[in-house]
Amino acid sequence: MNMTRFNRVCGHPRALYHSRNVGGEDSMEGEWPWQASLLWHNKHLCGASLIAHQWVVTAAHCFQRGMNTSNYMVVLGASRLANGQPHRLSLGIRHIINHPQYAGEASSGDIALVELERPIQYTDYILPICLPEASVRFPAGMKCWVTGWGNIREGEDLPHPQTLQKLQVPIIDQNTCKQLYSTAWGSSSQLKAIQDDMMCAGYADGMKDTCKGDSGGPLVCKVSLEWLLAGIISWGKGCGIRNRPGVYSRLTSYRDWIHQHIPEVEFVPAEKGGT
Ligand code: ARG
Repeated sequence: MNMTRFNRVCGHPRALYHSRNVGGEDSMEGEWPWQASLLWHNKHLCGASLIAHQWVVTAAHCFQRGMNTSNYMVVLGASRLANGQPHRLSLGIRHIINHPQYAGEASSGDIALVELERPIQYTDYILPICLPEASVRFPAGMKCWVTGWGNIREGEDLPHPQTLQKLQVPIIDQNTCKQLYSTAWGSSSQLKAIQDDMMCAGYADGMKDTCKGDSGGPLVCKVSLEWLLAGIISWGKGCGIRNRPGVYSRLTSYRDWIHQHIPEVEFVPAEKGGT
């Protein structure tokens, strides 16, 4: 038995749960303590995930409106976006690091590291998600979760009090996803290719999916009692459309890049096998 596993702070929600994404349902307070909201001019823009005391990770496309740090804020410890929550913390941003490969919608490298203005203390409602080592595999069919405050249907905002939504999504086989996205079904639908640093999760049948405003937020999978960040909500054709599942930036592709910028962050290795 590997005892270090039990000492890790990341990936272990603590709160007792006393207290819609497209097809989702309400989360409970403290259920996803790494979930953050990235605000632009005090308005929710994107999701993000806490990965260290002073860092969140989000999508690079969330900074299409510019890299001026003073326009952005990060909210932690919130399950509802509406103000007045006791565990909530709002912070300014010191630094934004967009992945150099990112080159517009549906390109590779849709990941950004955001340094907070100061290191924060963890609480029962504010805890980091674990990052996977490059060797960790999230097999097709594995049931993972996405969370966010994004639209509940294309063009329809999450209604007041904007409770964080959760949705269980299976990982989709990489070749299947490439095929889905390489098959046109309308007339003038522009095709965007699934790259190796992307992964798909959700349902080929449509209906249940992430949507606008969820971007940058986490796709997390529970691997031997620990939650790992498998992906970052990145793009999709519409929301919940048949044969167009949600596309996520694949975290394991960025292990070295993240380590280069945040040397102190720990990566969780693949399980050695259960025998
Ligand atoms: N790109 C969108 C955003 O900026 C969300 C992407 C998810 N779309 C999807 N169909 N799964 O919030």
